Amino acid sequence: MGCQYFEPCEHGSDSFTVDIPKVTFGRGCLQEAGARAASLGMSQVALFTDPFLRDGPYVEIVSQSLKLAGIDFAVFSEIRIEADDASVERGARFVADGNFDGMISVGGGSVMDTAKAAMLYALYPTEDFLDYFAPPLGAGKAMPGALLRHIACPTTSGTGSECTSISVIRINELDTKFVLANPIMLADQALIDPACCDSLPRNIVASTGFDLLSHALECYTAKAYTQWAKIEDPTRRPLIQGANPWSDLAARKALEIAGKFLVRGVNDAADQQARDQLSWGASLAGMAFGNSGTHLAHAMSYGVTHLMRDISTRDYAVESPFVPHGISVVVSAPAIFRYAAEGAPERHIEAAMYLNADMQGAEVEDAGEVVAGCIIDLMKQTDMPNGLSGLGFGADDIKPLAASSIRQGRAIANAPRETNLQDIENIYAAALSYD
Ligand SMILES: [Fe+2]
Repeated sequence: MGCQYFEPCEHGSDSFTVDIPKVTFGRGCLQEAGARAASLGMSQVALFTDPFLRDGPYVEIVSQSLKLAGIDFAVFSEIRIEADDASVERGARFVADGNFDGMISVGGGSVMDTAKAAMLYALYPTEDFLDYFAPPLGAGKAMPGALLRHIACPTTSGTGSECTSISVIRINELDTKFVLANPIMLADQALIDPACCDSLPRNIVASTGFDLLSHALECYTAKAYTQWAKIEDPTRRPLIQGANPWSDLAARKALEIAGKFLVRGVNDAADQQARDQLSWGASLAGMAFGNSGTHLAHAMSYGVTHLMRDISTRDYAVESPFVPHGISVVVSAPAIFRYAAEGAPERHIEAAMYLNADMQGAEVEDAGEVVAGCIIDLMKQTDMPNGLSGLGFGADDIKPLAASSIRQGRAIANAPRETNLQDIENIYAAALSYD
């Protein structure tokens, strides 16, 4: 079944590329930061974190470790949760002024994404902030060269940013998020200490856990890489290259972890096994989607965070309007997979199996329903909003949501079915609430 999915297509790609950092995983491994920085030749480190973590234990562990290794460092923490262009510009000034030869980021996706982008703009400044973003929003300017050596240390279990060459940045003037993606943005090392997730509040574990689950599910069900057109320049193979044997490998395990441990990790902070597994699953899913791309659930989350209003989320100290990334992704996911399954039903059935879904008597034509039912069940068990209406959206919002998300062209084209604006409107309509 797996092999058939990658059958060669005429004019289709016949190769895929895998890009991942050196990965260290384990309780207590944050203490290795100094030795690892030294091994990368760092002597003056920019230590990026956020205002909530700045005076906490994880930054302290990294700081002590750097001191032990005789490495100088300076801390930057003026980073907004859901990284924005203002945070990146502040970070870029900090990097440009500091004579640094290395970066260590300690935090969630916002911190790691800001660190990547801040190095880019510090080292290769542009007239216009949007120059490096893909058209039509940006100029699609090539990123000129390498960034500083970077050790990424995640403190949440969802984004996978420590293992991807992606940085998602909110452009404040446009009130929406866009993606910077280039292999030069991949960290040299990922230092994943699951102890950082021990004290996370339940809603943060839930949101990031659904991000993990969606990464894995989207890349497992993405269009096969052999169905994307062959590329002319092998050095410019896009990150969104479609499902491939590598992304399958990591996604399968990440799906198993999400199916088994998401509810446990959310509902019991003392369940160390579950939280450790979610931490590993998040990095695995990052290694997967960072080499395949996501599709509709992520593409359609951009409309949600663009148009959200008067909403805040428990456990997140962020001003309204705010919907955390994982929740913006998962609210539409059941409707999305009901729709997408028709394009790759076997893949959806397999994914449901890895998620440990209730498969009783399910046939391949039930694939979408089985996956949707499984996600809805997990959402209910973790008190997620019931679809878009749970975030304050109504029928009048469907067209604007679709108009916003349709701009995520390549991600939409990475879905297993061809999807147009009307399809996206229909999916949003079906995502308003679930029974
Ligand atoms: Fe995500």
